[in-house]
Amino acid sequence: MNSIILGIESSCDESSLAIVRGGREVLANVTARQEEVHKRWGGIVPELASRKHAESLLPVTELCLEQAGLSVDMVDAIAVTNRPGLMGSLIVGVSAAKALAYATKKPLIPVNHLEAHLASVFLEFEGDIAYPALGLIISGGHTSLYRIEQDFLKFTLLGHTRDDAAGEAFDKGARLLDLPYPGGPAISNLALKGDANAIDFPRALPSKNTLDFSFSGLKTSLVNFLRTDHGQSNADIAASFQEAIADALVRKTKQALERDHYRSVVVAGGVSANTRIREKLTNALTLKINLLIPDLKYCTDNGAMIAAMGDILYKRKEYLQGSEFYSLRPSARTELKGKVS
Ligand code: KG4
Ligand code: ZN
Repeated sequence: MNSIILGIESSCDESSLAIVRGGREVLANVTARQEEVHKRWGGIVPELASRKHAESLLPVTELCLEQAGLSVDMVDAIAVTNRPGLMGSLIVGVSAAKALAYATKKPLIPVNHLEAHLASVFLEFEGDIAYPALGLIISGGHTSLYRIEQDFLKFTLLGHTRDDAAGEAFDKGARLLDLPYPGGPAISNLALKGDANAIDFPRALPSKNTLDFSFSGLKTSLVNFLRTDHGQSNADIAASFQEAIADALVRKTKQALERDHYRSVVVAGGVSANTRIREKLTNALTLKINLLIPDLKYCTDNGAMIAAMGDILYKRKEYLQGSEFYSLRPSARTELKGKVS
């Protein structure tokens, strides 16, 4: 049966709602971005993010239903990100989802944001995922490698960042280069005009003994570089900085593949929208293994990925009904839901 799931995402700075049929057919995906609100502060201000979600969620819900040509009664269940994320932002989304589910007597599906990032590939590639899969999440808050077992039933954490996430490195690097927030797209655009080999920024933790990442040294190295009288263009600096992040991600992914047997690789999260990273991963891996990266519109936070993950959980009957809603709490904790070995 093709269920219709409404997905609500508000864990960070995007208020996004989507309606997805059968886990892959996106009937509507509407996002209210908050870049204009946070830009002047050079990063996300949590209190402003929560307030903006409170303002945006209702109009975004109305627009989403209108675009899908559905009334809320025609939806089978409501999925919402309840972890991890900014606490205030999560509270707004979870409260809205509870109210909607309670008023319409629909099941409520709590979704882990990180599982949802990985599930975004189902919006296009469902038939192609072969298990076990290696999952690489690269976002503003996380940089982690997971082993994913059959049908998203079990995730084993293999490595994660010891300090900054890849997206955080882009955002901090951009700030140092006086580029606007979010830093990823800004650095990526500037890098198009630069030479990626101009500056040899460090690639941390090269050893095969760990699948952890580290990006804070790269940021410090950029700070130190900018203090010198370097005479290098900002485009060259941006391209070299981006190259260092890309190399670190490719290296650890390859090391993970050498350690164990996998039948596909799934890459997801906001940073997977980066053209150079997509290109380098593709060049390094496609001849060896099936590489799945979501379409650009599903890389950064979106409601469709929440609905896609919601569909998987709905089929497994992992949802709450009626009075069970009271037990649903938002959580800032990172781990994938009860499945990390
Ligand atoms: O997944 P996401 O939307 O939110 C989190 O779950 O954190 O990721 C946001 C991050 C930001 O750090 C942003 O700078 C980065 O993704 N990002 C990019 C690109 N687009 C977004 N980083 C590099 N290149 C891009 N094109
Ligand atoms: Zn995200």
